[in-house]
Amino acid sequence: MTASPATDQRFERLRAEFPGTKDGPYLDVSARCLLYSGARKAIDDYLDHNGMGTIDKAAMFAAVEKTRGLYAKLIGATADEIAFTRNVTDAIATIAAALPWKAGENVVLCESIEHPANIFPWHGVAKRTGITIKSVSGKDGHIPVDAIVAAIDGGTRVVAVSSVSFAPGFRLPLAELGAACRERGVLLVVDGAQSVGVLDIDVKAMKIDALATSSQKYLMGLYGLGFLYVREDLAETLDPVFLSRFSVDLGDQHEGSAGDTSSYELCKGARRFDVGNYNYPATVAVGASLQLLIDLGLKNVEAYVCGLTREFADRLLDLGLPVYGGRTNLAGSPIVTVGKMLSTDHDAKGDREMMELHDFLKAKGVRLGVRRGLLRFSFHLYNNRADIDFVVDLVRQWQKTRAQAAD
Ligand SMILES: Cc1ncc(COP(=O)(O)O)c(C=O)c1O
Repeated sequence: MTASPATDQRFERLRAEFPGTKDGPYLDVSARCLLYSGARKAIDDYLDHNGMGTIDKAAMFAAVEKTRGLYAKLIGATADEIAFTRNVTDAIATIAAALPWKAGENVVLCESIEHPANIFPWHGVAKRTGITIKSVSGKDGHIPVDAIVAAIDGGTRVVAVSSVSFAPGFRLPLAELGAACRERGVLLVVDGAQSVGVLDIDVKAMKIDALATSSQKYLMGLYGLGFLYVREDLAETLDPVFLSRFSVDLGDQHEGSAGDTSSYELCKGARRFDVGNYNYPATVAVGASLQLLIDLGLKNVEAYVCGLTREFADRLLDLGLPVYGGRTNLAGSPIVTVGKMLSTDHDAKGDREMMELHDFLKAKGVRLGVRRGLLRFSFHLYNNRADIDFVVDLVRQWQKTRAQAAD
């Protein structure tokens, strides 16, 4: 699906709401977003109240519930299925630690492709409970769904994957994996850091049991706030590791009262995983961005952004650049990576030619990343074709200068 010309114009007009677009192509949302003016205004309002001593706690709680509801709507869940976390790691660790493990059970994942956020929490649980980690090998930069499914055995309780990897940025066929896991009675836990907010992730349609994300990337919010979705009937069976006053249904009592501790009831669904006061400024910021994403429609955002990445990858390939995965591997991802080798080291900078190109682009005002030895270009709804033209022209200039130097 590609975006219609009318949709393209709508996105074009939106650029004015992202002041950072004025300084050249911003292609690094996979690290952190450009802040949306609506989010900025929400934070400023919060800080004004904080500065003047007029923060209204009831209004803050209402804002928390509004953001919870908006996030739920974005991913096709209900508000009771959403908990607030600090980041992705916190969300994954929360669900991992709450599952009632039995020694001998296992978790299947692909360590060579996953971000450490989706690796260490499982090892932490393994150390404490005697479960094992079954790590399958990555295949040409992909998390191989067939190998993941083949690794599932009678002891597998969880399959943990990222929907789009941080490098090389390939997208996993989640619905296919979700169906295979559900058929086998295995829980699918997804790291959505590089997909939620840009791809049309629907937790019910994709049969996802738990989804972890943070808000500073495609959700266009701040560091220090994330979300955990847990399917409600699963969450209802779980005890939070950190039992807090916000895990417990206090009815009409003040949040500061413990009530009758001999007979407390856990909150509905994933709400039981909330822990103490919230990151209010980050909550109102991401609330504004969530409203924007919902108004635009994730299907439109996905079509627009993936249309840009496809065009970008094609044009770089036409110039002879080693787009990782070539033309066929890029289906529907907001990330394009360039380089010959996927290194094992997160910040590897071993490919001198690519690092030269990186430095050249950066010096000319392109904001991009380097991950695992690859140049990483990540797109969001504020990018446009002019950004692509700008980078493609610079690549041509760089190639010309190198060719002249080699003569
Ligand atoms: C796939 C993926 N997962 C997780 C994270 C970050 O995890 P956390 O929010 O816990 O810092 C990142 C990037 O920062 C990522 O790319």
